[in-house]
Amino acid sequence: MKRSEINKIIRDAELYLEEMNFYLPEWAYWSWETWKSKDKKELHEVLTKEMGWDVTDFGLNDFYNKGMLLFTIRNGSTPESGYAKPYCEKIIILENEQKCLYHFHWDKLEDIINRGKGILKLQLFNATAEEELDKDNPVIVYVDGIRKELPAGGILALNPGQSVTLPQRNYHSFWGDGKVLVGEVSKINDDHTDNRFLEAIPRFPEIVEDEPIYRPLISDYKSL
Ligand SMILES: [Fe+2]
Repeated sequence: MKRSEINKIIRDAELYLEEMNFYLPEWAYWSWETWKSKDKKELHEVLTKEMGWDVTDFGLNDFYNKGMLLFTIRNGSTPESGYAKPYCEKIIILENEQKCLYHFHWDKLEDIINRGKGILKLQLFNATAEEELDKDNPVIVYVDGIRKELPAGGILALNPGQSVTLPQRNYHSFWGDGKVLVGEVSKINDDHTDNRFLEAIPRFPEIVEDEPIYRPLISDYKSL
């Protein structure tokens, strides 16, 4: 992705979040220059737990159809790494029909929440032992604590305010029917080790630096 495209997506997201009355931590709005001027020790948790802006097109150069903007508000780790926090929270913006592609997590258990405006649709499959789509067996999920049984590949539609708990090894793809603000509350998030995409696609895009950074992505922290 070009940096200019990422900058525009983040500027648009800031306006949309304000419109939705959803506010981010103060460092979400820092310039890259401000990030560079800060004491890295104070920012250690933010930097190492990769909290912050995350824009991906899965390397497919078709962001508005296959991609999403995420912001990791909080994220934990094991006690051994110094932050005994077993949970994570993200906010995600999905444009109309913009898709997050099929993946599952070996470890992360997550609630995906419709925080408002459009309808959030998810297509769900169990994973087979070979980590392919299980096209035979029904999928059991809980919608705000209510048990639902869907056929393999069934589509779940969540209205604003509704959420679903996705267990480990549950293949999920989701998109907005209309633009949707999506919340995610989960166990610890590790995008480097815990995403099994159905297609071999990268989680983080390559970036072409065609203009200065407006807000850093979590993948930019390594340059600090
Ligand atoms: Fe997921």
